[in-house]
Amino acid sequence: MKIGIIGTGYVGLVSGVCFSKVLNHDVICIDYLESKIDMLKNGKSPIFEPGLNSLLTSEKGGTLSFSTHYADIMDCDLIIICVGAPQQENGSTDLRYIESCVRNIAEQMTHDMYVVIKSTVPVGTIDRMRHVFSQYPISETCNMYFSSNPEFLKEGSAVEDFLNPSRVVIGADDPESKRRLLEVYDAYKDKCYCVSSSAAQLIKYAANSFLATKISFINSLISYCEERNINLQEVATGIGLDPRIGPNFLQPGPGYGGSCFPKDLASLSYEIEHATEDRPDNCILEAVKEINNKSKLWPVYKVVENFYDENTCTLKPITIGILGAAFKAFTDDVRCSSTIDCVYELFNINKNVKIKVFDPIANNNFIHYLYDNTDISSKKLSERVGYNVTCVDTAYEAVTDADVVILMTPWPEFLALNYSKIKCLMNGNTFIDARAMLDEQAMSTLFNYYAIGKPHREKN
Ligand code: UDX
Repeated sequence: MKIGIIGTGYVGLVSGVCFSKVLNHDVICIDYLESKIDMLKNGKSPIFEPGLNSLLTSEKGGTLSFSTHYADIMDCDLIIICVGAPQQENGSTDLRYIESCVRNIAEQMTHDMYVVIKSTVPVGTIDRMRHVFSQYPISETCNMYFSSNPEFLKEGSAVEDFLNPSRVVIGADDPESKRRLLEVYDAYKDKCYCVSSSAAQLIKYAANSFLATKISFINSLISYCEERNINLQEVATGIGLDPRIGPNFLQPGPGYGGSCFPKDLASLSYEIEHATEDRPDNCILEAVKEINNKSKLWPVYKVVENFYDENTCTLKPITIGILGAAFKAFTDDVRCSSTIDCVYELFNINKNVKIKVFDPIANNNFIHYLYDNTDISSKKLSERVGYNVTCVDTAYEAVTDADVVILMTPWPEFLALNYSKIKCLMNGNTFIDARAMLDEQAMSTLFNYYAIGKPHREKN
């Protein structure tokens, strides 16, 4: 099949490359950003995603090309919209980029078009887009058939997830859209699950909200376990052994982040609140959000607990080393990363603290997010943070002279650091492991060691 992809962000690029190189379709990806398209034409991925670069330059599979022009995708059997649908301040979804895709297609089409929305959008979006299309004269002679095909690709393992999908959700309201989508995913026909477009859209929101709920559930037990000296990881493993619950997404941590969970939960919460008068239906999602906001700051509570100055009634002006800026390992994405929340909160408490951050691949994105980003929330952030936060090139530089070190992102390479050396480089000896990933026994012989969800161990 000939597939046109609009938007070369995480979703569009991974999907486009995999449709071509894994499922053997002929794919054209378009984006309005010329710099991105130029990079892709040169065989370089603008994002870090394991396995993506080698597929991008692979000779196998169907053709794969890149362009900035809608004209190049007008003869495609399917056009798949993968542009951003960001969250607005009230939690609702901003559909202007999706709408602009529909308008661009409507302006150039000369025959029926089959348009799939892969971006995560709320129920009702397709009706709205049908209305947008109906305003164009071409709608009198041709139709734009919409369908939904949500993605479930995790950042950092998106290519692997594409190769081994748990399910492919096809949300089509007309037989031809369904037929075309089934043909695209013919290699995964046993995994295809066909539903209405609205059900498909809700499946995406409900899946992410449910996973976020699991995380907040386990995180809601952190303080209680600390109080009662219970190892929460043992509890998580114990409940996860029940197949009705399952072991995944029960790892206690500094809240969930990333580009999907926070946004999808906020959007579903907003939609439910505005669709029903019965407010209590929505309480669970609001609670999940609140617990997450609190969990994100767990490392800060530990810092304050250890470095509170009774005389000034605030946090001492200490030096803090942070390991990890990405919202999870194997990605350079810092969106809604707990590191950002913690940095914000630490400076909020005492603007004289000094923070050094090291991430194996997300340093640039982190600094960009803090200082250059123009979105509302980060603007506020950079005003508060000032320039007392720096990114350094190694973990050892980040910990040098630090009074306290916080491990934020569970990068496997942090397991291999020389912790005796870290102890020598530090000014203090407090170590906060927000992922509880290090050897508790060994760490507590060196440090005043805190691991999330585990009883605190004083230095032996
Ligand atoms: C998510 C969904 O999993 C994916 O299906 C969807 O399409 C996109 O959104 P992603 O945002 O890449 O993927 O990250 P994911 O691996 O799901 O992790 C989300 C957050 O939850 C991370 O901040 C992670 O650290 C946190 N998490 C995950 C926990 O705190 N505990 C866990 O047990 C699992």
